[in-house]
Amino acid sequence: MKLTSANINVMVKACRKAAKILIRDFGELENLQVSRKGPGDFVTASDKRVEKILIEELQKARPKYSILSEEVGEINNDKSFKWIIDPIDGTANFLHSIPHFAISIGLEHNGEIICGIIYDPIKDEMFSAEKGNGAYLNNQRLRVSSRSKLKDCMIFTGGPNFESKEKDLSIKEYNNFSSQVLVPIRKMGSAALDMAYVSAGRCDGFWQRNLNYWDIAAGIILVKEAGGFVTDFNGNHNFIQNKTILVTNSRINDEMIEVLK
Ligand code: IPD
Ligand code: CA
Ligand code: CA
Repeated sequence: MKLTSANINVMVKACRKAAKILIRDFGELENLQVSRKGPGDFVTASDKRVEKILIEELQKARPKYSILSEEVGEINNDKSFKWIIDPIDGTANFLHSIPHFAISIGLEHNGEIICGIIYDPIKDEMFSAEKGNGAYLNNQRLRVSSRSKLKDCMIFTGGPNFESKEKDLSIKEYNNFSSQVLVPIRKMGSAALDMAYVSAGRCDGFWQRNLNYWDIAAGIILVKEAGGFVTDFNGNHNFIQNKTILVTNSRINDEMIEVLK
């Protein structure tokens, strides 16, 4: 079984087309790593190429939908439907030839994310979810993990970014969690995949400050449809406005909120 609705098909088709370019560029990068100029400009160009294909394909299929995409910003059209796009999430990994990054597309309807896909082109893992119809990895239905003690859990985080004004807070949170869990905390470098991994039960909980909407939009529906929780650090639903996000398998939510206090 897998998701087959018209909107999911549109997203998957656009994503697979853009992913071909992304895979080709990732191969090119290996040569550029050793060149004196370095791969920086190439990666910026690749990001834009991928975004262009995604937008062209999505607009072809749904000309009236609005768009919010990381590089081009807002393209306003029909107010009720909006694609939320991150062409490459995990750019720093991509830049360093680390094969852990993804294309992320969410679809918002009247302010709520109703479907989303996160695609890891290197591992060929297509995570998809739709409101009321479940979350999938390729053709397989997803469920969050059932671990209920924080101590036994695999926890992810990300940041703080170089320019973050909340570095000290992030480091304090990291230290606090480090003294609560047996397995060292992971920083995988792609917030979209971090959320996809919670939905797949690979990771039990994830927290981070200062993420943008395009980093998390598709992840929100994936986690919810797999039975997990997405909240801010206080357990409320204002994670977009507050710029703090806590994503869990639901069972360790209270314990994680306690650590974040
Ligand atoms: C970044 C990744 C990373 C997170 C950063 C994001 P980008 O997105 O999601 O995991 O820690 O805060 O900006 O720049 O690779 O699209
Ligand atoms: Ca991102
Ligand atoms: Ca990006």
